[in-house]
Amino acid sequence: MPVIAVIGAQWGDEGKGKVVDLLAEKARMVVRFSGGDNAGHTVVNPYGEFKLHLIPSGIFSSQVVCIIGNGVVINPAVLIDEVDQLNQRGVDTTKLFISDRAHLIMPYHILLDGLEEEARAGKALGTTRRGVGPAFADKAARLGIRTGDLLDKEALMEQLRLILDYKNIILTKIYGVSPLSLNEVYSQYCQYGERLAPYVRETTIMLEEALNREELVLLEGAQGALLDPDFGTYPYTTSSSPLVGGGCLGAGLGPTRISRILGVFKAYCTRVGSGPMPTELKNETGNLIREQAHEYGTTTGRPRRCGWFDAVAARFSTRINGFTGAAITRLDILGTLPTLKICVGYKLDGQTIDYFSGSIATLEKCQPIYEELPGWQAPISHIREYEQLPVKARQYLTRLEELVSCPVNLISVGSAREQTIFKTPIL
Ligand code: IMP
Repeated sequence: MPVIAVIGAQWGDEGKGKVVDLLAEKARMVVRFSGGDNAGHTVVNPYGEFKLHLIPSGIFSSQVVCIIGNGVVINPAVLIDEVDQLNQRGVDTTKLFISDRAHLIMPYHILLDGLEEEARAGKALGTTRRGVGPAFADKAARLGIRTGDLLDKEALMEQLRLILDYKNIILTKIYGVSPLSLNEVYSQYCQYGERLAPYVRETTIMLEEALNREELVLLEGAQGALLDPDFGTYPYTTSSSPLVGGGCLGAGLGPTRISRILGVFKAYCTRVGSGPMPTELKNETGNLIREQAHEYGTTTGRPRRCGWFDAVAARFSTRINGFTGAAITRLDILGTLPTLKICVGYKLDGQTIDYFSGSIATLEKCQPIYEELPGWQAPISHIREYEQLPVKARQYLTRLEELVSCPVNLISVGSAREQTIFKTPIL
């Protein structure tokens, strides 16, 4: 009956893909519960290196049923391409299923994501321009088209006609661009429907059956807590909840079914897109981390902003998710630095504060208060036992545990599955 939720604890890109791929070796089901193809989960395993945008990272374990939950917005073209690419590389996708309630990304969502960003000019959010925000906006506005709708072509035509009439007014009258053709969009989505029909299910029943069989189920989050539309740096956030609460909604299970909540933290911080990031390093150290860790967006290729570990933000993220344990990833990257800094509080207008403000104007003014620790200055990617880590690396981890008040379950020291140190049991 155990369910482990794997949750991004910072601004996304924490390495959730690796953690899910690794834990999936022992699981029977993995449910991706939020976001869309704005996510890019990198997995390196015996099949090779993969960048998954929609398909759960458990797809490589043959016993795992993979579900794209109702909380995900699906671009069918991206999903079909991902299935094809996996099949071409010898990965079986016959155990992949899609919730009939998952909303679809439509061509106008992608167009509007770009047009809205351009209209914001200097205040652009820095979205991935995949149409994810407009698709979630339509879900809330009751203007969405869901995966299950593809199965009834007649009803789909009526639904699409109504919505496209409205969207074309926005496209032509507000943004002055060409309208989309109803027939073209319709025939394209009918084709997608034919291709995806075998995958579409009422997935909450499958989830319940797995839970009743007491199988290990993983909930795979996308993005990170600080991009949550409620608790993140609004409006510089994503549009669906990456929190464990989003896991309940986006997979279709109650909170009491979740046994463990694993927060995935990078050993430092990164952020891609706009918005406050108090520990950002706009200097040589930031550049060094970026180049060593190849911190460039998986989906967009944009350089990620790099900075020191922010324990104030991490404590906040732990509180709103109730993490029972932490996975610390990319610890190996810090191995060349002579000293390491951890942000333990913020200076705001001469006062010290220890909380992550809900106001971006306040966060922009916060100056990090750092604690300095000596670096271990040694490679650690070959190490598999916690005790074998250099003393200074263990000191760094112990300090993170203390500051975040969360035990470290596992440490990642490289991209491969085996480059993992299990410190304390997750379950
Ligand atoms: P959107 O989700 O494409 O609307 O983008 C909104 C914000 O979330 C932007 O700052 C993006 O860079 C960020 N974002 C979205 N998905 C990811 C992700 O998977 N990793 C990191 N940042 C992301």
